[in-house]
Amino acid sequence: MLADLSGKVALVTGGGQGLGLGIVMRMAEQGADIAIADLSEENAENAAEQVRALARTAFTAKMDVTDKASIDAAVEKILSEAGQIDILVNNAGVAGAPGSTGVAFRDVDWEFTWQVNVKGLADVTEAVLPHMRERKYGKIVNISSVAAKAARYVTAYYATTKMAVIAYTQAVAREFAGENINSNAIAPGRIWTAFHQDWMAEREKQGDTSVVGKDRYEVFETAAKEVIPLGRPQTPSDIGALAAFLASDDASNITGQVIQCDGGQVMA
Ligand SMILES: NC(=O)c1ccc[n+]([C@@H]2O[C@H](COP(=O)([O-])OP(=O)(O)OC[C@H]3O[C@@H](n4cnc5c(N)ncnc54)[C@H](O)[C@@H]3O)[C@@H](O)[C@H]2O)c1
Repeated sequence: MLADLSGKVALVTGGGQGLGLGIVMRMAEQGADIAIADLSEENAENAAEQVRALARTAFTAKMDVTDKASIDAAVEKILSEAGQIDILVNNAGVAGAPGSTGVAFRDVDWEFTWQVNVKGLADVTEAVLPHMRERKYGKIVNISSVAAKAARYVTAYYATTKMAVIAYTQAVAREFAGENINSNAIAPGRIWTAFHQDWMAEREKQGDTSVVGKDRYEVFETAAKEVIPLGRPQTPSDIGALAAFLASDDASNITGQVIQCDGGQVMA
């Protein structure tokens, strides 16, 4: 039986597309009402429409995780409309600064990626934690990456942020365990979203011969198959299913863990 999330409100950052949308839909299918906080209001509203089609309630808020005022305003709006936040999924994240290619890093990638993937994630958590502590209930699920433990030098800045996400997840888990707050991380493998699509488009623009004139999905899938023991990329729904489980009371004795959903790339 699927984990029951009925009666819960889940806030998903970056829930308007990609993995975030997969998480939103799985949690709604399993009974949760959903708050979607995203940089893109249009994507957040589209996701909300899909949630409402499942007869669940959806709330939206514009949020830039690099701007504390924007985080506070969004959390306040969601709390005033939804009344509670039981589940926080810190999914919003970037592969690099605009124009990154995934084949060479620049100084700007270090700064931009840290601000979104680590500081932004911590700031959203710290905006929601007082509410969870007051209610003595909270499930936090942070999206790390296979890159944390299977890093490549060309995206060392990204891998570093995703390892930092694990450290932060565990710090929160230990600190607030006594207040019935669980904090876990998911390390997804390779999923065909804007994350990879933008990299490919940028590489093509820059004349990278491994991409120019080729079917971008085929290039992605071939590279994924080479490193994934199960021989296939993962999907937003795979990540959603794991997030829904970790956010449920079925996982109430799991905290401070990072769980790979990567087709076997990291085995530890
Ligand atoms: N796609 C993959 O293969 C993969 C693998 C491992 C981990 N991840 C992680 O999964 C998460 C989602 O990635 P995705 O592949 O769905 O990418 P995506 O680009 O499709 O989606 C990212 C989402 O985050 C939002 N976002 C970006 N910056 C934001 C900000 N400053 N404030 C608020 N929202 C912001 C975007 O609007 C978008 O909705 C990221 O944390 C990424 O690092 C992705």
